[in-house]
Amino acid sequence: MDQSLIKTINKLQDAFTSVGVANPIDLPQIAVVGSQSSGKSSVLESIVGRDFLPRGTGIVTRRPLVLQLINRPASAKTNGQVNGADEDKKEDKLSNPDEWAEFLHKPGEKFFDFNKVREEIVRDTEEKTGKNAGISPLPINLRVFSPNVLTLTLIDLPGLTKLPVGDQPKDIERQIRDMLLKFITKPNSIILAVTAANTDLANSDGLKMAREVDPEGARTIGVLTKVDLMDSGTDVVDILAGRIIPLRLGYVPVVNRGQRDIDSKKQIVAALEHEREFFENHSAYRTKSQYCGTPFLARKLNMILMHHIRNTLPEIKTKIQASLQKYQLELNSLGGPTGDGSSGNVVLSIITEFCNEFRTALDGNSGDLSINE
Ligand code: GDP
Ligand code: NA
Ligand code: MG
Repeated sequence: MDQSLIKTINKLQDAFTSVGVANPIDLPQIAVVGSQSSGKSSVLESIVGRDFLPRGTGIVTRRPLVLQLINRPASAKTNGQVNGADEDKKEDKLSNPDEWAEFLHKPGEKFFDFNKVREEIVRDTEEKTGKNAGISPLPINLRVFSPNVLTLTLIDLPGLTKLPVGDQPKDIERQIRDMLLKFITKPNSIILAVTAANTDLANSDGLKMAREVDPEGARTIGVLTKVDLMDSGTDVVDILAGRIIPLRLGYVPVVNRGQRDIDSKKQIVAALEHEREFFENHSAYRTKSQYCGTPFLARKLNMILMHHIRNTLPEIKTKIQASLQKYQLELNSLGGPTGDGSSGNVVLSIITEFCNEFRTALDGNSGDLSINE
């Protein structure tokens, strides 16, 4: 996630804390929908920038994973730097004392090693659904604490599938649909409709499902994965230009790690570098490479979040005003400073100014949301 957005929101949160208003910014949840193996888990992982979700061919994600990212300032000692290089060079080189995960079903246990997080997701999935491709609507709740994330919820979901395999029930398709609908119907959710670029967009399960709950396309982003696996001579340019199935928020093509990269434990940083080179060097995408790839997708999500915050600002201001009034009344009843309530007004004017600044910054940026050819 974009560091400037993280800082902005933290600043805003700090301002609220100082006037005694608890977390009024209700950030949207981001949920992925799409066919099985279209690359949903891979996309989420790239957005978070950590390697911790089970991925692979077949039905790997078999329960919803509700992933709460929680921003937490780095401790003074480490100041957010990757640490551990001295201690355990091989095993621990990517672990950071300021960054850890906790499962709701394992209270108090901190996971600093994200490989262990993946193992625990697999273990708990098997415990609740068996080893043979069974699915369950029972979510796994995981929290990731880090100075490098935005306080936000991401939801990884099983893929849409038609034919039951293994221990799956006969009505697997309906069961998965119902599970997904529960998450994406909420007006506060942003839908990442994932389609593999080497399959037909017109048959995209993710887009069809997104359209059911968001017919206007106000909160659906199309994500095209596996662009690297398209037949040579074919590309997604017509889709990006809105000539196939137009989407108001547009499409972002990405290249995630392939199965071989996963098996060889290719690092996320290397994968992102490979993705950048792919789009910059490809004749079809070279001229629009700034609109391609995971970093652009993350920026786009940030813009959507900013717009969401801007739309909530009037409501937030009303809330602050109300709590300041209450605070003033309490002060008065205690025989404290009476009259103009100036200290409260100072805080309110700081926040108002901040909100205006935020709005101006946002207006200057809003062109970033779509590709206009
Ligand atoms: P999900 O079932 O939709 O969550 O899909 P996964 O993220 O588990 O990915 C399914 C398989 O597709 C894995 O083997 C991934 O390595 C592979 N995959 C996903 N995205 C891409 C991509 O952009 N390019 C390539 N080559 N493989 C991908
Ligand atoms: Na999969
Ligand atoms: Mg998955």
